[in-house]
Amino acid sequence: MKFIRRSLLSYSRWMVCVHRGRLARCSSSNADGTEGAGAAAGGWPRRVVSGLQPTGALHVGNYFGALRRCVREQDAGHDLTLFVADLHALTTHHKGQSLQENTLELTALALAAGVDPARSLLFVQSAVPRHAELCWLLACLCSQARVQHLPQYREKAALVPRGGGAGDGGEVPLGLLLYPVLQAADVLLYRATHVPVGADQQHHLQLAAQLARTFHHRYGPAFPVPRAMLPDDGSDRVRSLRDPSRKMSKSDRDRRATILLTDSDDAIREKIRKAVTDCTPHVSFEPELRPGVSNLVALHCLAEDKLPEEAVEESDGLTTAQYKRVVAEALCGALRPLRARAAELRARPRLLRDVLRAGAARARLRADHTYAHVAQLAGLAQRPPRPALASAADAVSSPISE
Ligand code: TYM
Repeated sequence: MKFIRRSLLSYSRWMVCVHRGRLARCSSSNADGTEGAGAAAGGWPRRVVSGLQPTGALHVGNYFGALRRCVREQDAGHDLTLFVADLHALTTHHKGQSLQENTLELTALALAAGVDPARSLLFVQSAVPRHAELCWLLACLCSQARVQHLPQYREKAALVPRGGGAGDGGEVPLGLLLYPVLQAADVLLYRATHVPVGADQQHHLQLAAQLARTFHHRYGPAFPVPRAMLPDDGSDRVRSLRDPSRKMSKSDRDRRATILLTDSDDAIREKIRKAVTDCTPHVSFEPELRPGVSNLVALHCLAEDKLPEEAVEESDGLTTAQYKRVVAEALCGALRPLRARAAELRARPRLLRDVLRAGAARARLRADHTYAHVAQLAGLAQRPPRPALASAADAVSSPISE
């Protein structure tokens, strides 16, 4: 334990130095622009919760759309819980070893992006069994039809390869159906009031809100009604560089469609150079009419914290080909320090595991607290909450499970 505390302390000091400059620039990205740190939502304290799947390297959509916004919430003084959603990743991912590697990679990126384990909770979802327990309880309040109508379920179910799905015959795994219910459990377990996510997660958050209300009506109030925090700066839906009618996605087979946070400067320049635009040579921001060029403007703005009008004005006289070079340099400038910090952290797997282990111990306390209340309301047998810190047996059970 001493070692963990020492590591966290030294890491935390390092983080303060690294992010001191950035803190000065960060503004609160409250969804409604009205609430200050610690303000309540419907009587509940403000809590920000989000998750990232360890299904491969993060791309700029994940970063600008979710991770960076989480960090800004933290830096504005809000209570942040961020977890690696490895249980969700199991619905599409099957190789145990790479899941663990991706988990460490993602943890390094989250820390490099500014998540501070001294102020925020950072942990792996599967290290807190209450996620799955609450998922079951919520699943009993949710119809199959409700979940089957969700667009993400339909998209993912359609992609299950014939003969390669849950088992015999390539059936859609039950986990895909439960995915949004587990996501509801993730946010309700920590009594989230605000959930920074990309636009693709909006329907899932609507389900979480509905399940919070259903629970309330059936058993009594146990959770705030969470809401998705969707920004209006274009970061909620970063588009594919190859097909701007679609969102940028980790699972895109065309590698040029996605800018990864681990991409080198040269790779970023090349991908932006190949980005699909249109035949009009000048730069404008018209997302409906010109989705490709507008996506580049959005990326430029996200990288340099500016408004589309400013970016378009600055690019006056440039062709789209010339403008691509500006966008590429803006992205390289924004991602280079992040990439360097993540590489340093990635070389310290022990530190990463310590951070996750300590985060999970704190997360379990919160989760136990909520779950005890929920179980009591639902009339379930009570189990005494787990002790505050992991036991020695827990600590050696898995390389990164805590
Ligand atoms: P994941 O890992 O697929 O995505 C992580 C976050 O990135 C956002 N995102 C995007 N934002 C803008 N533009 C894009 N092109 C883009 N692509 C992805 C996603 O909306 C997400 O916020 N289901 C979640 C993981 C999760 C979760 C949760 C999130 C599990 N439980 C509870 C919030 C709360 C997901 O899709 O992760």
